[in-house]
Order: sequence, then C-alpha cells, then structure tokens
Amino acid sequence: MTDSAPVITIDGPSGVGKGTLTVSLARHLGWHLLDSGALYRLTALKADSSGIDLADETAVAAAARSLPAEFVTGAANEPVRVLMDGQDVTERLRTEACGHMASTVAAYPQVREALLQRQRDFRQAPGLVADGRDMGTTVFPGAPLKIFLTASAAVRAERRYEQLKRQGESVKLSHLLKEIEARDARDMGRSESPLKPAEDAIQIDTSALGIPEVFNLVIAHWQGKRLP
Ligand code: C5P
Repeated sequence: MTDSAPVITIDGPSGVGKGTLTVSLARHLGWHLLDSGALYRLTALKADSSGIDLADETAVAAAARSLPAEFVTGAANEPVRVLMDGQDVTERLRTEACGHMASTVAAYPQVREALLQRQRDFRQAPGLVADGRDMGTTVFPGAPLKIFLTASAAVRAERRYEQLKRQGESVKLSHLLKEIEARDARDMGRSESPLKPAEDAIQIDTSALGIPEVFNLVIAHWQGKRLP
C-alpha cells in the first residue's frame, strides 16, 4: 500500500538548504527521496532542447507529461544522478539558467497538473522525504510531518554563491541576490500552488543554523510524532 507510506515534506524557497536536508533525512531513515524541483528543471530542459517555445504552456505541459527521465541513486555520500533520454544531465540541471527556466514553466497550471501524479508515485514504503515548494500544501496534503524552511534572501544568496563557486560557475553575489528575490516573487505570486507554508507545517528559520542542527530538529519532530 503506497498511500499508507509516511511522507515528510520539506518546503521552502530557493537556497534554504532543503536539498541537503532531504538527502540526509532519506539516508538516515532509509526512505525514498523526491526532488520535485528536478522535475520542473527537467521539463524546462527537455522543452528548451526540443526547440519548444517556453511561452507555449500546452507544448511545455506535453513535454512534462512524457518526460524521459530517470533518477539513479548512487552509493552512500554520492549524489542522485538524473538521466534524460539516457544522458546524465545532473550538472546541467543545477545551473542558474536552468533554475530560471524551471521557475517560468512551474507557473503554468497545465505543467503542475502534468507532474502531479508522477510526484505522488514516489510515495512508496517504507517512506518518502519530499523536497519542493508545494509538497505539504498540494502534493502530499495528508503528510504526517510538514517542515517549512526559511532564511533571509541575503543568507540564501551567499550559500548559493559558495555552492556555484564549488561547481566552477562564476557569478556575482549581487546578481544572485536579485535572481533569488525575483524567483521568490514568482514562486510566491503564482496562482497555482504558490510557495507558502501549509497551515500545519512546522517553520524553521535556518539563517543561523547549520545542517546538523536543522537535521536534529526535524528528527526530533518526527520522533515526537511517533510517540503514543
Ligand atoms: O528546488 P529547485 O530550485 O530545484 O526548483 C526549481 C524551480 O522549480 C523553483 O524555482 C520553482 O519555481 C519550481 N518548483 C515548484 N514546485 C516545486 C519544486 C520546484 O514550483 N515543488
């Protein structure tokens, strides 16, 4: 029964630390993982590389419906690799350009609808940790534990800057801050599944917290849920 598999949802804006936290939790619990942002990034990449006009919602949604994508879990401490049409596109997905295109196509209701069931299919025993913007509000509204991470835009821009530097991408911090603010505005302002905490979500401000502290907080909340 997949519907009874527990889900922990991790939502929040770009650069707040959702990805790292989600991977750590999934490894610790031995659960599956859903990186829903990767599905929006893949949709944008697929549409763009097929010559589809990103302004054409119906055509982009058709690309989303038939995404030839596969997630390959690596050995411990190795990142999940993403394949599209059999090709490893993991690095291409993580670029700023792709994130920007993803947030454009993610505003289309038809694209969100096209990806909804695909995301729900990740809910498999023994459990799922799902990372995104609307995991707790739309995709898994019945999840037993919902976490919403926040951090100031300045802190998130700095974290993203360090991450991109490690990936060998050269970007300006001021440019990144503008991008993050623009993406926040798009994600929060769209009519379909806007970025906002579910009413029953636990909010954690990660501005002054390290990953291990956030991880411990979430595990404590999960253990608290399981106590009689
Ligand atoms: O999380 P990530 O940065 O990979 O997401 C890329 C973009 O995809 C986000 O800026 C957001 O616009 C969109 N997204 C979304 N809903 C999700 C996950 C991502 O709209 N559940």
